[in-house]
Amino acid sequence: MNYKVTSLKPFGVIVEPNGKNINVKDLGIESLRKLFRQEHLVLLRGFDTFEGSEEFPDYCERWGEVSIWPFGRVLELIQQDDPKDHIFDHSYVPMHWDGMYRPQVPEYQIFHCVKAPLSGQGGRTTFSNTVLALEHASPELKDLWGKVTGVYQRKMEFYNSKTVSPIITKHPQRDFSVIRYNEPHFEEQGHLVNPVDLEFTGINSEEVGDFHRGLKQALCDSRNFYAHEWQEGDVVVTDNFTLLHGREEFTSKSPRHIRRVQVLSSPPFDNPGLESYQ
Ligand SMILES: [Fe+2]
Repeated sequence: MNYKVTSLKPFGVIVEPNGKNINVKDLGIESLRKLFRQEHLVLLRGFDTFEGSEEFPDYCERWGEVSIWPFGRVLELIQQDDPKDHIFDHSYVPMHWDGMYRPQVPEYQIFHCVKAPLSGQGGRTTFSNTVLALEHASPELKDLWGKVTGVYQRKMEFYNSKTVSPIITKHPQRDFSVIRYNEPHFEEQGHLVNPVDLEFTGINSEEVGDFHRGLKQALCDSRNFYAHEWQEGDVVVTDNFTLLHGREEFTSKSPRHIRRVQVLSSPPFDNPGLESYQ
């Protein structure tokens, strides 16, 4: 075995090389996929990684069919000077799942850290394991969540979409329930460029505040939540069907550059909640 596997807390694993000069491409995809299915998050750290701009998305093709965006296969997550959307700012990003506004929802997110913020500059990518969140929630809370449906509208450079999804839904290919939720942004949290327009049905207006507080608390509970502090060269593979993710704020102009590719499931999963898409 050219690598060793250690658990991360409270979920996920870190895979590290046994020796020097081992490339991430030398690791067997099917063994990694097994870890991914069990652990929902696989961090490959300490390996040699990718050269040039095509090696990374070409590697991702080994995991499955890569989702193609108007910009191609790779999203460059890097702060822009005049961002038109919060994902290109240095602000936090509310929890969500990827592909919620797209015709197909990818199963895998694969990240490659090209440059990491320095210690103390923030910018961790946050992940909540929604299976654990459901496992640890009281029956009363789960009853409340089970009544609610989110209605999300989002217009940005790459789409103008409306998506409707129950908070609790089945994993599309496995026999367990998951949470699908795009966390609302409240004004008291400060300014966010182009926030999502959202509405929640199935509960009355007096219950809405408690609903969001309870759900946020559960998603960020230390038993269910992992925040990834990036190191240069990290490759992280995450389960977008099971986890929700977001980002912590970082110091403006930090050296933070993450590449992200989305890989579809086999067969691809058509977005069940997409009501309109342009
Ligand atoms: Fe995302």
